[in-house]
Amino acid sequence: MKLLYRITLAFGLLLIVVTGVSAYLINSFLLENLIEQQRRELALKGQVWIEKVKASGETIKPEEIQELSRLVVSNRKVEILLLGRRKKVLYTTLPSASLDQWIDQLERKAKKRQDKNIWMIGSDDYIVVTLPLKNGENQRLLLATPVRGVKDMRMELTGNIMASLLLGAICAIILSFFITRSLVTPLSRLTEEIKKVQRRRFSEVEMIPASGEIAEVTRSVYFMAQELDRFHSSQKQFFQNASHELKTPLMSIQGYAEGIRDGVFTGESARQGLDVIVKETTRLKNIVTEMILLAKLESEEDLFHPSEVSVLELVHQAVERLHPLMMQNGVDIAVRCGAANPRINVDSEKFLQAVLNILGNAVRHAREHIEISIEEKNRHVLIDIIDDGEGIPDDLLPNLFHRFVKGKNGETGLGLAISRAIVERSGGTIEAGNGRTGAVFRIRMPLLHG
Ligand SMILES: Nc1ncnc2c1ncn2[C@@H]1O[C@H](COP(=O)(O)OP(=O)(O)O)[C@@H](O)[C@H]1O
Ligand SMILES: [Mg+2]
Repeated sequence: MKLLYRITLAFGLLLIVVTGVSAYLINSFLLENLIEQQRRELALKGQVWIEKVKASGETIKPEEIQELSRLVVSNRKVEILLLGRRKKVLYTTLPSASLDQWIDQLERKAKKRQDKNIWMIGSDDYIVVTLPLKNGENQRLLLATPVRGVKDMRMELTGNIMASLLLGAICAIILSFFITRSLVTPLSRLTEEIKKVQRRRFSEVEMIPASGEIAEVTRSVYFMAQELDRFHSSQKQFFQNASHELKTPLMSIQGYAEGIRDGVFTGESARQGLDVIVKETTRLKNIVTEMILLAKLESEEDLFHPSEVSVLELVHQAVERLHPLMMQNGVDIAVRCGAANPRINVDSEKFLQAVLNILGNAVRHAREHIEISIEEKNRHVLIDIIDDGEGIPDDLLPNLFHRFVKGKNGETGLGLAISRAIVERSGGTIEAGNGRTGAVFRIRMPLLHG
């Protein structure tokens, strides 16, 4: 069954139960209340009349009895029994057939000192009030009204209450249907969008308008689909780039190898061909090694073993490693540290690799000088690597850290992607730009005891 109908049905059933219980409770309390109210009314009227009679003297006059009838008259039938001394009936509205029964009952109750308000006379229940007429002389006024009348009244009241409860319940169910529908509709539309994700049609996923928590879910699904779309296309791009990068050296190796085998290249040109084969094989090996490293960095969980590392020491280590290349390119490096030996928590081997990739690029692109500045700021350490080369081409900048993005004389185009993966997995960030003199790279890492 559809969620909409299920919720409405559940709500409807709940309302019916609540309405039923309320109606039952009202119905049972109502009768007691109505009986009590009748009894009090009768007692009050009787008392008023007795007070008057007391004031007027010994005997009860006919006009006083008339006044009593007038006083007790109401929209329900009220029986009167006025009993004088020695059970003499002074006045009554009771039929003579049941009169003895009433008097008997009165005696019995008086003896048992019972003060029950409901009497059963014949086959009818009566609400009865008996009041002493004159103190100690056994004269009594009895007023009685049949319970049946009160029951009718209760039926009428209960009926009215039930009708309004029912009307309220119907309105509530209709309202609930529309409210539920407004909640459920975005959910079923969302299901459609999720099915698109299932079928990998990420770009077709739309944002479903909704409100509250459901809006958050629809927004999350939309952004998730967008992210998956980006990931999907970057993955596609990666495979295209990777196959291109691997195919180019392989084709030149194949060309030269076949040329030498078939005797097309001989002597000096064969030697040059073999040089190309060796160079391309090395490049191929580098690409594959870096691709494997990158894949590991992005997928393996326990690749990093962080420990406390001095930034300054790490930078000096990197400079030392690049010494031969520096000599070869005629580049010098100045390290400036504006902090007292900042320490970070990283995997030193991996982090050294990240710095080496950036610094290696700088050595390759610098004219003659590189500056490395280390600074502390807001519980972070900033490592800036600034060279005086031609700077990063503007068209590379937006995707500089993506895989296989490289400039004119680039090598594998994977170095910076590896650096970013390492820095980000170490809890830091990396950014690149062009400064006054050349390229500027900034690594930002949280300080260990910041
Ligand atoms: N210091 C720099 N100055 C100028 N260009 C740079 C610098 N560092 C990196 N680049 C550019 O960024 C590209 C990508 O760098 P990288 O990912 O290390 O790949 P690779 O060095 O293998 O080409 C380089 O090919 C180069 O064009
Ligand atoms: Mg590089």
